[in-house]
Parts: sequence; C-alpha cells; structure tokens
Amino acid sequence: MAELKNDRYLRALLKQPVDQTPVWMMRQAGRYLPEYRELRAKAGDFMSLCRDADFACEVTLQPLRRYDLDAAILFSDILTIPDAMGLGLRFETGEGPVFDRPITCLRDVEKIGIPDPEDELGYVMNAVRTIRKGLNGDVPLIGFSGSPWTLATYMIEGGTSKAFTKIKKMAFAEPKTLHLLLDKLADSVISYLNAQVAAGAQSLMIFDTWGGILSPRDYREFSLRYMAKIVDGLTRENEGRSVPVTLFTKNGGQWIEEIAATGCDAVGLDWTIDISDAKARVGDKVALQGNMDPSMLYASPERIGQEVQHILEQYGHDNTGHVFNLGHGIHLDVPPENAGAFIKAVNELSRPFHK
Ligand code: CP3
Repeated sequence: MAELKNDRYLRALLKQPVDQTPVWMMRQAGRYLPEYRELRAKAGDFMSLCRDADFACEVTLQPLRRYDLDAAILFSDILTIPDAMGLGLRFETGEGPVFDRPITCLRDVEKIGIPDPEDELGYVMNAVRTIRKGLNGDVPLIGFSGSPWTLATYMIEGGTSKAFTKIKKMAFAEPKTLHLLLDKLADSVISYLNAQVAAGAQSLMIFDTWGGILSPRDYREFSLRYMAKIVDGLTRENEGRSVPVTLFTKNGGQWIEEIAATGCDAVGLDWTIDISDAKARVGDKVALQGNMDPSMLYASPERIGQEVQHILEQYGHDNTGHVFNLGHGIHLDVPPENAGAFIKAVNELSRPFHK
C-alpha cells in the first residue's frame, strides 16, 4: 500500500474516525488564484493546461501550497468525454464552453463511440500519473467525471443553457434517442473513471450539476438511473485501499435517500438543505460532503468562521462521515485570503467535534 501522510478525507468518506473534519473546495484550482491566471496565460488557454501533464500537475498543486487542504482534485474538466467523442469543444471567454458539433438527432448519437481512456483521453491519465508523483503521498487525489445527464445537457444544448429546452425536447419527444446517448455516456464514464483509478486516483466524484432541473420522476429516469449504473461498474478498491465514490446532484436535496441507495459512499450537498436534515434522512448509510454557500466567501473572516461553526454544529459531535466543502464551485472573484480563512476555520473549529 502506497504511503498516505494525510488520509482524513478518505477515512471520513468511509465513516472511519478522524481527528478533525477534512476539507477541500470544489473548483479549488482556478481563476480566483493569481498563480493560476499566470500559468493559463503562459499555456495559452484552458484546454492547453489540461492537455499538458506538467501544467495540469502544477495547477492541481497550487491551492495545496496556499492552504491546509485534505485532498487534491485532478485538474481537468467534465467536458473531456464529449470532446473525445468528436463534438469539438471550445472555451470562449465570457461565454463558457461551446460545442461546434452538438448532438441533434438519433444519427448523431448512433455515430458516437466510447472513447478509449488511454488513447483519446490519454492526456488525462498522464495528468493523473504526474499529479500522483507530484503529491508525494501528502493527500489523496480525487478523480472525477460529469454525470451522463449533465454531460448530455452540454452536448445537446451546445453549451451552457438556462432553460434546457433542447435536451428536454429530446427527453419528452424522442426519449429513446436520449436514452441511447445516456447509456453510451454511462459506459464512457465507467471506463474513464476506472482508468483514472488505475492511473492513481484514490477517490471518485461525479458532478451532476444539472440533475436538479428535472422533475422527481424525470430525475430518476434520466439522471439517477445512469449514475447508479456507473456506481455498479466502478473499481472500488485499488492499492490495497477502498476508492470511495461521491455523487453530487446540485439542487438534489429532495432526493438524497435515493442517491444514497445507489451504493455510493458519500452524497454531496449544496447549501439549499440543512446538513442536520440530510444526516437525519440518510442515517449511517453514506457520508455527507458540503455544504457552505460559496458566496459566503465574500463575507468577513469572522462571518465565515460563524458559518463554519454553524455547519459543524448541525452535523454534530460525530467522529466521522463529514467532508467539509462548499455547496458548489468557488466563485472566480473571491479573494484568496477569504478561501484561506475558510480552510483555517474548518481546521481549527472542527477539532472539538472529534474528541
Ligand atoms: O479544482 C478543480 O475543481 C479543477 C477541476 C475542474 C474544472 N472543472 C476546471 C475548470 C472541475 C472538477 C470541473 C468540473 C466542471 N466543469 C463542472 C462540474 C462542477 C460544477 O462547477 O458544476 C462543470 C459543469 C464544468 C463545465 C465547465 N467548465 C464550465 C461551465 C466552464 C466555464 C465556466 C466556469 O465555471 O469557469 C468550464 C471551464 C473550466 N473548468 C475552468 C476551470 C478552472 C475555467 C477555465 C478558464 O480558466 O478559463
């Protein structure tokens, strides 16, 4: 078993006792950090950072040099899979991701193959291997992917959307076409995430950013069902250790029991649910990750500390099962010192909860 100096994050996900609540931040590597912006300018653009293993490693490590974080997350993006499927991904400044060849009909879906993780997506696996070396066993590395539903929204809408009319039209007018796409995406995600584990990822997270725009019935049919298929297909042990899986549906608070029933190890929460309610509902079944509103990082260090204390009290004096995080990604105009105040508050204020 490779040595791991700080395994608090993995232990909490597996509900083993910890000395303090582990913490990391969604989108902890990124534009709010001046050193990230500098390196991105040097690389040229975002995808060039992702495609170069040394750049991706450097960017992954940047937040860890500033803050006492308990996990690193692979620097990449959820849209690498649709890009490898040939949709032509571009990141336009101010516009977000854009696909040149979005999916419009059954023929488009039939043409799509399952990308080979060591070929078309080999650059991601190289990044994972390089980052594992760069981390030198300090903290675990999180690998990740988007959920099939969330990936499909970008592939069908052609980019970011507000009303999601194109994918909903397909869901309700041509459900078979959408199910074929979601099934191919689920198979692609399974092979992609298992390759990340083989390359060195020690935990996995699935981002279902847009599952929360669906009705409960449609969430089950179009999103949860495919995440459950993925959970069933994942490698859950490697290097003599469990590889915990976290599912995060933004705005999915009303479905946490069903998410927990997929067999995942942890459920990610956004800030629209009290973590005490979530805990009462899922019991011992899964660990919980979350759930401070990322906009709280605009507040003073005192206010941030109060909010951290409040969330810790809500989770209660339980020795394990909570990974502190933001309820969604950190905003790009947050002062880095405020992120530092947040991490410090979790590290210091959580200790009395683990005596
Ligand atoms: O520290 C980390 O978490 C870095 C790795 C990471 C990125 N994206 C880097 C990135 C992760 C885990 C993601 C996930 C991701 N990407 C999600 C799911 C999580 C969420 O936020 O809901 C989604 C929906 C995407 C798709 C995506 N990628 C969008 C919508 C955008 C543009 C808008 C935005 O938020 O920046 C991206 C680009 C992107 N991915 C950037 C980064 C650092 C910014 C690119 C740049 O430098 O200009």
